[in-house]
Amino acid sequence: MSEPLVMGIETSCDETGVGIVRGTELLADAIASSVEEQARFGGVVPEVASRAHLEAMVPTVQRALDDAGVTLEDLDGIAVTAGPGLAGALMVGVGAAKSYSLATGVPLYGVNHLSAHIAVDTLENGPIPEPAIGLLVSGGHSTIMMVEDLAGKVHQLGASIDDAAGEAFDKVARLLGLPFPGGPYIDKAAEEGDRGYVEFPRGLSAAKDMERHRYDFSFSGLKTAVARWIEMEKRAGKSIPVNHVAAAFQEAVCDVLTRKAILAAKEHGVETLLLGGGVAANSRLRAMATERAEDAGLTLRFPRPKLCTDNGAMVAALGSHLVAAGVAPSEMHFPANSSMDVTIVSLADAL
Ligand code: KG4
Ligand code: ZN
Repeated sequence: MSEPLVMGIETSCDETGVGIVRGTELLADAIASSVEEQARFGGVVPEVASRAHLEAMVPTVQRALDDAGVTLEDLDGIAVTAGPGLAGALMVGVGAAKSYSLATGVPLYGVNHLSAHIAVDTLENGPIPEPAIGLLVSGGHSTIMMVEDLAGKVHQLGASIDDAAGEAFDKVARLLGLPFPGGPYIDKAAEEGDRGYVEFPRGLSAAKDMERHRYDFSFSGLKTAVARWIEMEKRAGKSIPVNHVAAAFQEAVCDVLTRKAILAAKEHGVETLLLGGGVAANSRLRAMATERAEDAGLTLRFPRPKLCTDNGAMVAALGSHLVAAGVAPSEMHFPANSSMDVTIVSLADAL
C-alpha cells in the first residue's frame, strides 16, 4: 500500500479536528472550535472543552468524510491523539476513534500530539528529511525535538522549564487587554510596534544558564518583566503603548526560540529545522527563523499558519506516515494519556 487513506481525530484541547489525507495529500480538514465559549473565561475550561467535543464529534467526522468524498469503509487507518492534552478532552476523541474502528474494522493508531504537529509539515512540503530538528511551540509546549525517524524515533533536546511559549503570549495578551487566545492578537498588534521599544529579558540565555539549560526555555520571567513594566508605566500615569509592548515582547520570545533551535541543529550536525505548533503561526517567528536559518546554512520548513494550530489533518498526516512505514496499529485498550512522553510517537505495542 503506497498511499494510505487515513482519518485523524484531534481533541486534546479546544479544537475538535477531523482530517483526512491520502499519503501526503490533504483531502479534508474539518474543525469545530469551542474557543468562543472559552474566551469568556479567558482560558480553556476542560469541562467546557469535553462537552463541546462530544457535541461536535460526529458532525465533524461526517463533514470531513463528505469533503474528502470517501466513506469510513474506504479508510486504511484511523489515527487519534492519545496525548498529551486535557484528559477529559482526549477521552472523547479516543472513545470516538475506537468506536469507528470497532464498527468498521479499520486499524486504529493512538498517536502523540507533538509528533503530529511535526508530521503536518509533510502535507505542505513533502517527506521530512531525517534527522531533523523540530521546534515545537504551542499553548502547552516549547520543545526542541530531535526527529531521527518520524515513525518512532523522536527525543527531546530541551523544553520550557516553566510557561510554554503560547502560554506566555496568552498571559501577556491578557496584561495588555487583548482577547484570548492572545497569540494572534499580539502578532497583529506588533505589526505597528517598535521591537526595540523595551529590551525585555531573554530567559536562560546567560553563559551559566547555557551550561545547564542549553536547549531549554523559560518564559515566566519575561512575563513578569512585562507585567512590572506595565505596572510602572501606569503608576507614572502613562498610557500603555500596546503595539510597542507587543512587538518588544514578541521579539524576546522569537529571539530565544530561534537562537536555541538553530544552535541545536548546528551542534547536532542536523541540516533541517522544522517549526510546528500554534506559535509557529507567528509572523515574526517565521521571518526571524527564515533569516537566521539562511545565515546558518540550514533548510527551514514550516506549514501554513492554519496547519500550525491544532487540527485533525496533523493527526491524519502522522497516521498516514505510520501506516506507510508499516508500524503496527494500537491495541484497542489504550488509554488517553494526558502527559504522554514526547518519545512515544504512537502506541504500537506500548501496553
Ligand atoms: O498548537 P496549538 O493550537 O494548541 C496547543 O497544542 O497548545 O497552540 C495554541 C497556542 C496559543 O497559546 C495561541 O496563543 C498560540 O498558539 N498562537 C500564536 C499565534 N497563533 C496561535 N502565538 C503567536 N502568534 C500567533 N500568530
Ligand atoms: Zn497543539
